[in-house]
Amino acid sequence: MSDENAKLSIGDKSFDMPVYNGTIGPDVIDISKLYGQTGAFTYDPGFTSTASCESKITYIDGDEGTLLYRGYPIDQVAEHGDFLETCYLLLYGELPTQTQKADFDHRVTYHTMIHEQMARFFTGFRRDAHPMAVMVGVVGALSAFYHDSTDISDPYQRMVASVRMIAKMPTIAAMAYKYHIGQPFVYPRNDLDYSANFLHMCFSVPCAEYKVNPVLSRAMDRIFILHADHEQNASTSTVRLAGSSGANPFACIAAGIACLWGPAHGGANEAALSMLQEIGSVDRIPEYVKRAKDKDDPFRLMGFGHRVYKNYDPRAKIMQKTCHEVLAEVGIKDDPLLDVAMELERIALEDEYFIEKKLYPNIDFYSGITLKALGFPTTMFTVLFSVARTVGWIAQWKEMIEDPKQKIGRPRQLYTGATQRDYVPVSLRK
Ligand code: SDX
Repeated sequence: MSDENAKLSIGDKSFDMPVYNGTIGPDVIDISKLYGQTGAFTYDPGFTSTASCESKITYIDGDEGTLLYRGYPIDQVAEHGDFLETCYLLLYGELPTQTQKADFDHRVTYHTMIHEQMARFFTGFRRDAHPMAVMVGVVGALSAFYHDSTDISDPYQRMVASVRMIAKMPTIAAMAYKYHIGQPFVYPRNDLDYSANFLHMCFSVPCAEYKVNPVLSRAMDRIFILHADHEQNASTSTVRLAGSSGANPFACIAAGIACLWGPAHGGANEAALSMLQEIGSVDRIPEYVKRAKDKDDPFRLMGFGHRVYKNYDPRAKIMQKTCHEVLAEVGIKDDPLLDVAMELERIALEDEYFIEKKLYPNIDFYSGITLKALGFPTTMFTVLFSVARTVGWIAQWKEMIEDPKQKIGRPRQLYTGATQRDYVPVSLRK
């Protein structure tokens, strides 16, 4: 993999480090022997210039604004595929044949129920607990129920755990929603496809028949596709780091859910809608844009900016289209929030500050309006993100476990604390 060397000189010494080329994207400089050779660490808080692993799953070009799932552009996958086909692609690396797709769909469908005793976990939470707090707790508890699929050295068990995670997340998410609103849990149904089943578990009630709207179910499925994986983002890196210690996959996914919750990451869809609601009307936009540009004001435009995309997030374009489809289907002619969002986007994209810092709408900018129109409360938005991202987390976890170079992740530091000093008994302290 090494075609050339990079040279580093420190003082009068110079060191060669191999450079590896990917199939596409930036080359990497292998610094794994740097400390041994030089006694120095690299320093890269936030990992803005650090490749943590080799991966074949997802590729992002931040300047071009492209996103590939196993080489397939996100717009083509979202347009022509469905979520379970995307799960198969991310897990196995290839689009499934019809037989493979039917078998995979069947395996997922017949793993959607959770152990009946798990329902008791929910009653331990307050009804007004944030559903993401419930998700962290209940998903982590899966490892207490599925001992047989925690033998991570067994490839068959790794795939069983992957299918179980993908299958059970919608059920747990729907139960978290039902518990949150005080309605009875709804069991999964094998006669419905993945997204229709999810909407049915969320919105049906025992006293009336609930027919899933195919347009809304297709929109939900496409939203899941858009959120499925995204290279080494914060929550995926969390899952990889947790998995590198040999922790079982359910506990690793629970760690990913915890990280995703943050408003700088998956929590941004909830924060973006709250921001649009706070702005309230188009005439108040300039005041908020001014605040977003003020270094002394912590306010940021939620749903804007991205560590990697310095162009329009390709997912945001598809999400905006889906948003219009859903609003039309549910009969919302002119949603004031959509008016504020589109005017805010127009203003920001023309503003020198956002242009100079290459800040564009990201996937979270339009997803909140769409999910609200689908009937979900803002507290459920990041839960929906976690349902979709589970396949990305588990695919990346599997790739890490199966990497022959895999070892426990253990970064170092730049230490600027106290140098060694002797203990002072409390009687002598001033
Ligand atoms: C997701 O990594 C992924 O792939 C994540 C994700 C995925 O699918 O997994 O894509 C999902 O998390 C999308 C991002 C959702 N978050 C938000 O929408 C929250 C708002 N955005 C920002 O918090 C911010 O843009 C981040 C966190 C997304 C990215 O932050 P970075 O890469 O650390 O960039 P930065 O904070 O250093 O910002 C660069 C500059 C700064 O100004 P200077 O210090 O250079 O003067 O741009 C400014 C920032 O102040 N800036 C913003 C801004 N985002 C960055 N200013 C106003 N509003 C914003 N939204």
